[in-house]
Amino acid sequence: MNSVEVNGLTKKFGKFTAVDSISFHVEKGEVFGFLGANGSGKSTTIRMLCGIIAPTSGDAKVSGYDIKNETEKVKESIGYMSQKFSLYADLTVEENIEFFGGIYGLDSGKLRSRKDWVLEMSGLAERRKSLAGQLSVGFKQRLALGCSVIHEPAVVFLDEPTGGVDPVSRRSFWNLINDYSGGGTTVFVTTHNLDEAEFCNRIVLLDAGKIVAEGSPMELKENTIRNGMLFIDADDVYRAYELLSNSDLVQNASIFGSALHASLSGKSQSVAESSDALRKLLTSGGIGVKSIRPVLPSLEDVFLETIEND
Ligand SMILES: Nc1ncnc2c1ncn2[C@@H]1O[C@H](COP(=O)(O)OP(=O)(O)O)[C@@H](O)[C@H]1O
Ligand SMILES: [Mg+2]
Repeated sequence: MNSVEVNGLTKKFGKFTAVDSISFHVEKGEVFGFLGANGSGKSTTIRMLCGIIAPTSGDAKVSGYDIKNETEKVKESIGYMSQKFSLYADLTVEENIEFFGGIYGLDSGKLRSRKDWVLEMSGLAERRKSLAGQLSVGFKQRLALGCSVIHEPAVVFLDEPTGGVDPVSRRSFWNLINDYSGGGTTVFVTTHNLDEAEFCNRIVLLDAGKIVAEGSPMELKENTIRNGMLFIDADDVYRAYELLSNSDLVQNASIFGSALHASLSGKSQSVAESSDALRKLLTSGGIGVKSIRPVLPSLEDVFLETIEND
C-alpha cells in the first residue's frame, strides 16, 4: 500500500487556483521531496493531506484513509511539522517533549521511553533543562522533528524544515531525516531549495500549483538532459548567454554564478563537437572563453530546464 495517494487534488481560494489538479503517490518508507518555489502550493497541499483544510475537488488517501471522510483516522496516523514549527519557547526542551507526548495521548511509560528517544535523536540530552527559545535554529528543528514523531506516526509531513538554517545544520538535518526514514516511516518533506532534492528518494516539482517533474533524482537527470551539458566560463556571461540561447546547438542556457551551463540540443554529432562549435561562436562574437568542458547536470539544471521550457 502506498503511504500517500493523490488524485486530481485541487484547492481554489476564490477564483485563484493554488493547487491545480495534482496526482502522485508516495511509497511507504521513502523520503519524498515536494519541491517548488515560494507560493507554488506546497503548504496548501500539505494542509489538505493532513486534514486541516478541505480540497475544492479531487481526493487523496493518507495511510489508506480518505482525507475527506476519515479525517480523524488520517490525523492519528500522521505527524506534522508546520513551516513555523510549533515549539513553546518558554518551556524547556523536556517540557516541550512532555507537552507533545500528552497531546498525542502517550501513557507515562511510553512517554518516558519516547522522551529519551527524542533527547537522543535531537542531541539535546545534556540540555534537557534549557528553554527551547534559547536553542539555535538547528537544534530547534531537531527538537520540533522529534516532537512531531513522538507518537511514532506512519507518515510525517515536514513543511520546509530546513528554512533559515545554515548549510551545515541543513545537511545534518537531512542525515537525521534519512536515518529516521530507515526505520520504515514515510517522510514527506517540502523545500524551496532545489538542491535539497538530492537527499530525497523521489521528488515532485510543483510550479504554480501544477506538477512539472516527478521521479528519482537520477531519472530526472537522465530524462531531462539527454544530450549532455557544458560548463562555460566566459568573460561576459550575459552576452555569452544571449549567443548561446540563440544557437540551435543549445537546448537551454542558464547562468550559474559567474559561469554558464548549456544543455545541448543533440543537433551535432557529439558533446566535443558542440563544445568546439560553441567556443568558436563565442570567440567570433568577441567573448573570451576561459573554459568550456562537459559537466554532469545538477538537479537545479534539470529544474531550470523543466520550468523554462514550460
Ligand atoms: N488561505 C489562503 N487564502 C488565499 N490565498 C492563499 C491562502 N493560502 C495560500 N494562498 C495562496 O496560495 C498560493 C500557494 O501558497 P502556499 O501553498 O503557501 O505555497 P508554498 O507553501 O509553496 O510557498 C500562494 O499564492 C498563496 O498566497
Ligand atoms: Mg509553504
